[in-house]
Amino acid sequence: MKFERVRSARGRRLSSTRWLQRQLNDPYVQAAKRDGYRSRAAFKLLHIDERFELLTPGKRVVDLGAAPGGWTQIAVERVESEDAAKSVVAIDILEMEPLAGAEILVGDIEDEDAVARLRKAIGAPVDLVLSDMATSTTGHASTDHLRTLALAEAAFVFACEVLLPGGGFVTKVFQGADEPALFEAMTKRFESVRRFKPKASRSDSVELFLVGTGFKDAG
Ligand SMILES: C[S@@+](CC[C@H](N)C(=O)[O-])C[C@H]1O[C@@H](n2cnc3c(N)ncnc32)[C@H](O)[C@@H]1O
Repeated sequence: MKFERVRSARGRRLSSTRWLQRQLNDPYVQAAKRDGYRSRAAFKLLHIDERFELLTPGKRVVDLGAAPGGWTQIAVERVESEDAAKSVVAIDILEMEPLAGAEILVGDIEDEDAVARLRKAIGAPVDLVLSDMATSTTGHASTDHLRTLALAEAAFVFACEVLLPGGGFVTKVFQGADEPALFEAMTKRFESVRRFKPKASRSDSVELFLVGTGFKDAG
């Protein structure tokens, strides 16, 4: 692959020049463009699914922190079956472009009214809860770790309310001192819990995913 240099870096801050250079040279950014995915994050879910085989036709899925929608696209592609019109319900604080096969809500997972709307949209228990939620990073590692972990914990609480027995849960976390507590809590509600870093997750990022399978109904 040819290395692309940012043509005019003049007037741009060093951090944004670096960001742009990384985007231009990132094979997953290019692959997302080629394959019509809305984000490079789509490949993280593809890698997670290659390893854990969570998304199969007919499954019902909730996607938390879904915008711009790469994970939602993958989920729709993989669970779509003839009799299930909208098997994927997605939510984000940010507006998201409509996507055939998914019901999309705007709301904050930490807000009770939004969660009530989400529950209503889901209706019946689901097979899989996905969360790629993250707040915008501050650059202060422990603050970013704790803020993202709070979202992962909210996703876990929500998953425990809506999952079918045997269901699955995937959540993004940032490595750090408090992540083992969430891992431990998940082991009480799932038959198996694994840490997984997809190939598309940047090696210099502290991001990883916790994957719980075999949801146990009674905690
Ligand atoms: C890494 S992006 C998700 C990318 C997405 N999975 C994709 O494939 O395109 C993280 C998302 O989490 C959302 N988010 C952060 N806090 C949230 C909250 N409290 N409730 C809902 N979404 C939230 C952000 O708005 C952002 O769109």
